[in-house]
Amino acid sequence: KEAEDQLVIDAGQKHFGPVACSTCGMIYAAANLEDEAQHVQYHQRLLEGIRYVGWKKERVIAEFWDGKIIMVSPDDPKYALKKAEEVRELVDAQLGFQQTSLRCPSKTKTYMFVSSEKKIVGCLIAEPIREAFRVLPEPCTPESSRQEPLERHRAWRCSTEPEPAMCGISRIWVFALMRRKSIASRMVDAVRSSFMYGSFLTTSEIAFSDPTPDGKLFASTYCKV
Ligand code: ACO
Ligand code: ZN
Repeated sequence: KEAEDQLVIDAGQKHFGPVACSTCGMIYAAANLEDEAQHVQYHQRLLEGIRYVGWKKERVIAEFWDGKIIMVSPDDPKYALKKAEEVRELVDAQLGFQQTSLRCPSKTKTYMFVSSEKKIVGCLIAEPIREAFRVLPEPCTPESSRQEPLERHRAWRCSTEPEPAMCGISRIWVFALMRRKSIASRMVDAVRSSFMYGSFLTTSEIAFSDPTPDGKLFASTYCKV
């Protein structure tokens, strides 16, 4: 404990206490050497991981004024699969996922949102599924709408009856500084239009696996439209 305390002595630094990096989004104590070192490491790994140099043969699913969505499929060239795996590892680390392998790699498709600055700022991993368990909507009472979003999230439960589904979204992630710009929504749209050849999946044919609070808020909004 003593050694730890010594690292955070205020020696007149400008930024004492927690700061958020405006590039990688990490919150750390700028006056803490250990924290700063961890930030530098994280920052570099993230930037390296999301850099996209571009491939001759890329599968563009959608194009926008601020970027494009590409998809990597299991039979794609090694370099594409390698990048998809690199990004997945980054996303897993951000989501706090422990297991590093996919349930069914031969059927998994990776969607990536590439910004106009050539950075992968969004990633979605989709796999075929047969059934899913619906998140039960809370009864919409005036009482519940007055609750904080987090309170509402806690009240959600899952149905015990499986329902048929086609596509499971096992991971969805958007770069911290690029959130709330419809990147996740556009990635899910891209999945629905391209996951199954020749059919546009409805919102009830897709399912989000084990969502985080952010994931639930996004999914419930997205699936209503
Ligand atoms: N809080 C409240 N509402 C939200 C949130 C949120 N954090 N995120 C999205 N929404 C709702 C909003 O209504 C939003 O529309 P608005 O911005 O016009 O109000 C709508 O969903 C659409 O949001 P998008 O802009 O399309 O979503 P975004 O690109 O910001 O990405 C995501 C959402 C992927 C959940 C992002 O917040 C993220 O990466 N979070 C950290 C990682 C994470 O938790 N991912 C989900 C894991 S669950 C899983 O992988 C199955
Ligand atoms: Zn940073």
